[in-house]
Amino acid sequence: LGREIVYYDSIGSTNEVAKGLAIGNCDEGTIVVAEEQVSGRGRISRGWYSPKFEGIYCSIILKPSVPISEIPKLTQLIGLGIARALQKRGINPLIKWPNDIVVNGKKVCGILTEMAAEMDAVHYVITGFGLNVNNRRIPGEISSIATSLYLESGEEFYRPELLASILKEIEIIYTAYKGGDYNGFISEVKSMSATIGRKVRVINGRMEYTGTAVDILPSGALLIEHDDGELTEAQAGDVSVRGV
Ligand code: BTN
Repeated sequence: LGREIVYYDSIGSTNEVAKGLAIGNCDEGTIVVAEEQVSGRGRISRGWYSPKFEGIYCSIILKPSVPISEIPKLTQLIGLGIARALQKRGINPLIKWPNDIVVNGKKVCGILTEMAAEMDAVHYVITGFGLNVNNRRIPGEISSIATSLYLESGEEFYRPELLASILKEIEIIYTAYKGGDYNGFISEVKSMSATIGRKVRVINGRMEYTGTAVDILPSGALLIEHDDGELTEAQAGDVSVRGV
């Protein structure tokens, strides 16, 4: 990953640029990175706060030859790659299903996976992540739920080096995923889960339900047990999970 790097001082959204490159048939592993995004995008039509020189805003173009059903698991594994890189820097991250990374209960990183597929065959996957790194402050409206590595550790990080180690970790895991060898990684995702064992409220479009998160399945789905013992599998998609 990152043999081809497309770099911007300022851009709307690295995921948007990556989509154009993927349609133009760029090499797998190409990354798009920017110092700031003026219209960074989050999941479920939300924005992503992307102030200049403070965070890492990066999109990776992947072209795995897999059916669509294999993609939710990939999202989990990308989160694991980022979490592993943070662990190696002395940070203690947890993975909040489907794909937030939290430190001390607050979000430091969000991942937005988008894909194009035809007849169930995946053309390309864009996996974009935003990591709050050296931010000294987080604006009022998100300060109760979001944080940065600096705010949690008191340490400043050299972003290019941190990005390189994230890409290295993701590459190791992605290579195993393509070879069908991911079960060990899914166990690691579970062991770092901020969601398993917690009461959750799942919001999927207009559907809403509560239960206890009991497992992350090999598919990447979250298994939820309702009060009556019934089980539901929440698929990543556009699902939002909140504590209840
Ligand atoms: C979320 O938690 O809602 C996902 C946030 C994803 C943000 C990243 S920043 C780089 C890439 N480009 C975007 O516009 N979004 C993703």
